[in-house]
Order: sequence, then structure tokens, then C-alpha cells
Amino acid sequence: MKSIKVGLLGIGTVGAGTFNVLKRNQEEISRRAGRGIEIVMVADLDVARAKELVGAQCEVVNDGNLVVNNPDIDIVIELIGGYGIAKDLVLKAIANGKHVVTANKALLAIHGDEIFKAAQAKGVMVAYEAAVAGGIPIIKALREGLTANRIEWIAGIINGTTNFILSEMRDKGLDFDTVLKEAQRLGYAEADPTFDIEGVDAAHKATLMAAIAFGIPVQFGKAHVEGITKLEAVDIRYAEQLGYRIKLLGIAKRTPHGIELRVHPTLIPAKRLIANVEGAMNAVLVQGDAVGATLYYGKGAGAEPTASAVIADLVDITRLADAQPAHRVPHLAFQPHSMTDTPILPISEVTTSYYLRMHVADKLGVLANVTSILAESTISIDAMLQKEPALGETQTDIIMLTHQTQEKNVEAAIKKIEALPTVLGKVTKIRLEHLS
Ligand code: HSE
Repeated sequence: MKSIKVGLLGIGTVGAGTFNVLKRNQEEISRRAGRGIEIVMVADLDVARAKELVGAQCEVVNDGNLVVNNPDIDIVIELIGGYGIAKDLVLKAIANGKHVVTANKALLAIHGDEIFKAAQAKGVMVAYEAAVAGGIPIIKALREGLTANRIEWIAGIINGTTNFILSEMRDKGLDFDTVLKEAQRLGYAEADPTFDIEGVDAAHKATLMAAIAFGIPVQFGKAHVEGITKLEAVDIRYAEQLGYRIKLLGIAKRTPHGIELRVHPTLIPAKRLIANVEGAMNAVLVQGDAVGATLYYGKGAGAEPTASAVIADLVDITRLADAQPAHRVPHLAFQPHSMTDTPILPISEVTTSYYLRMHVADKLGVLANVTSILAESTISIDAMLQKEPALGETQTDIIMLTHQTQEKNVEAAIKKIEALPTVLGKVTKIRLEHLS
């Protein structure tokens, strides 16, 4: 059977990795796919570099339109990133009846519904394993492996840059700014790290996982997004003393009132496997009603780990290219007519536990005042830590962990606590998940 023809848009790190792995493992891959998979055309602005990477066997152009309009090409891999030209070319490829493989989480989290609708209408596949957690086959697991389950929640370390920074802050007791600079020097953080450190990248991925876990549209705009830029080394230390680690989690949770979709620094018990995912590694914990908890771990970025996911999609598409569109796995796991509009809850309606740190004057009655505010707000205290003031100091830190309560209760209580004359400055609030 003649090989399936692929066009590649963008040959940066992941594109080069895809080209190399496909070449290196071509025999093994075609034994699995049933036919060869061949990249025949590459579009990149840096034509000279692209030519050096792919050699003479494949045509290199500087205009992606030449790829998406090429009638010989069956599958287009989009590795440009962003939602400008990438969106335009993906929609053109779909309109031209080509299947698409993309690693572009930002594009799908924001324009996914439009893109999947266009693909549905045209009867082509849009595959995006590489968009979430790099080399970990989490899309495959959620869409297919766990298809018997009612998914209850997902909690993932889905951004390697921030996990690396948090690991370094904990290991070395350093503050965020110092570690960020070090991460940039080592190449773990980009020159403009905003999307990573502000939680946006993780929220793109959490949004996609929520859609396929619960059969809801892709709704990035409704995700609650907090990064790690305000996290202080002191809180990592106190969390540790209480038996917790702080991780940037992407959380998607089904509740009786709606769906929680949030990214924020989170205390998790140090004894959980996922709490021990260190450095730039990713991990996703999924709770299904039948299977219970399953954990997926691996590299969330990098040339060949991401290429592994891109090529898995190429193989899937190759196997299913001749199948009736209705017999393929739906883009968002659920049949398009069976999607629901279950609301995504605003953060004020989210229910979780909390870590609260307050700096107080070491005076009689301070603790009683704070605990009575919490009691009036029906917030139950789970654990507490009070530091002995340093010699000659008259101020100290109090740290409290609460049982589960609604975010708006905690916010109201914090306002009252901050108004106490013995509480100095702002209360630090970090959400806590037991993941049990
Ligand atoms: N920048 C991402 C990370 C990798 O740090 O995990 C690509 O999504």
C-alpha cells in the first residue's frame, strides 16, 4: 500500500524531533500503521535551516499555504503555535479535506469548538495528543482507555516549567524570582515565561481535559487561572512542616452544581505519588467511578517526547483514514450531539480546603478572635501551626488548614480576620486538595 503523505508546518524543536523519530523508527511505525508515513513537505520561515534538518528527500517551502493546498498531502501537522497563522492554516487544511495533527493547546483551548465543528462537517480528524502533557498519552487514556467510566475529577501537574521552579524553591529554599532566573539560564523557562508561570499554559491543557472528561464544550474563558508568581518560599516551608507539598495543579472536577475548572498552586499531601513528581516532569491523576484513581507520568515537553505523541496521532489517523467518519473516535470523546452544557462554576462557588497564613501580634486572645471568625463562618479547622516568636520578637505566624468549605465563605472570613487589629497585613490563602 502506498504511504500516507504528511505536510509539516513549522520545524522547530518538536518538528525536528518528529522528523527524526519518524525516520529512525519508520519500519516499526509502518508495521503498526499498516503503511508507511512520509513527511513530503515542510513549511518554515527559516528555509535554510529546515533544508539542513530534512535533507534532499523532502520539499521545503516558506509558505504554509503551499502545504495545506497541496493535493498530494493527506495529513497536516501544525507545530507553529499561537492562534494567528496557525488557526488560519488549520482551518484551510480542514477545508481542503486534510486531517490535522496539532500540539497547539492554546489554539484548541480557545478556538477548539470552531475547529472541531469544521472538521466534523468535512469528515476529517483533528488529533491533539501532543497538546496536553507532551509525551504522556493522556488524551488517549481519557478518550478511549477510560471510556467506561464516569470521570469524577482530574488533577494534573501539566506544566513542566512551573514544576521545575517549585521543586527548586522547595529543595533549595530559594524565592521565586531567583529560581526563575536559574530556570531561564538552564533553558527550563522561556525568555518570556508568562504563559507558564501565570498558569495559562496549564489552563489551556486543563480546559481540553475537562471537555473530553465531561463531554462539555471547550471553554478556556471560564477557567480560573492563577500562576505561581506570588508564591512565597515561606509557604512552601510551612506546607512541608504540615506534611504537604505545593504544586501548580490543573483541576477539572464534576460536582452536583457544575464543573470546577481551575489552575492554581495547591497543597497536596506529601505522601501522594503525584506530590513526588519533581523537576520538569508532568503527571495526571484521573479518578473514574469504575477504575478508581489512575496516574499517568512522563515528560510533558521536549523534542522526542512530544514527537512521540505527534506520531501516535499520525498512526491513529493512518489506520482510520478510510473509515467512515462516524466510526472514528469523536474529537472530544463524546458524540457531538451528546455534548452537555453543564455550567462551569465561578471560583466563588468552588468547594475545597484551604491553607491560611497570617502574621499576628503575639497577644492574648489573637487566636481566639481568629478561630471565632472561622467558627461563625462555619469553617472547620483541620490543623494548625503557630511559630514561637523569635527571641525579642512580638509578632509571629499562624498557619491554619481548614476542612472543605466554599471559596466565598473563606473570602468573607479572611476579610474579617484582616480587619482585626492584631492581624498584621494580608492573609495568605492557598487551596488544598487531598486527592483521595
Ligand atoms: N511550556 C510547557 C511546559 C511545555 O513548561 O510544560 C509545552 O506545553
